[in-house]
Amino acid sequence: MISNGPCSRRSSRLRPARPRRAAPRRNGPGTASSTRSATSPTTLGGHQIARASPVITRLYQDRDLMRLLSSLLGEAVVAVHDPVERHVLNVLHRPGDTHGAHTDDYPLALVLFLEAPPHHTDGGLLEFHPGRGNLGALDAPGARRAHHRPADGYLLRSDITAHRVTPLERPGLRRTVLNFAYTTPGRQGATTSSASLLYD
Ligand SMILES: [Fe+2]
Repeated sequence: MISNGPCSRRSSRLRPARPRRAAPRRNGPGTASSTRSATSPTTLGGHQIARASPVITRLYQDRDLMRLLSSLLGEAVVAVHDPVERHVLNVLHRPGDTHGAHTDDYPLALVLFLEAPPHHTDGGLLEFHPGRGNLGALDAPGARRAHHRPADGYLLRSDITAHRVTPLERPGLRRTVLNFAYTTPGRQGATTSSASLLYD
């Protein structure tokens, strides 16, 4: 782990995602699943980002970056074809905003922090359980919490690692991350229907 979520999820414009029904919990690696969060992130999809910021798209597609990710994963890493999901901006900005427990459709999430709560007691912490894809593992021994600062980043094997973000604890806090999703050759598109429940 170098250091978001992000998770890559659908959003056609910057907006708060509507609460969605909870997905069935599944066990085992490779399953994407989610639970409804009290208040979900406000998201901006990759197609909007590409129009507003070619720099972000160029960084996402950077060959040296993908070579590094391939080396870390131990197999070829390629860009996600879906223009919405390949890079998204997730913003938590209201008290109680959170990012519910889930796994991602794509195997790698590179999350870069633009804004973050100053202290670990402010919330906005990444919670994850290495090597465990079942969401219940987030409340089991071995689960970890990580506090990040602006300019931090982390790389997560997000398809087989249960993860979530803890709620913001008070007004005036913001947690803004760019989430770059990467995949492997031949693995494009959503692998399950449940991952899309986190976002519209
Ligand atoms: Fe995620």
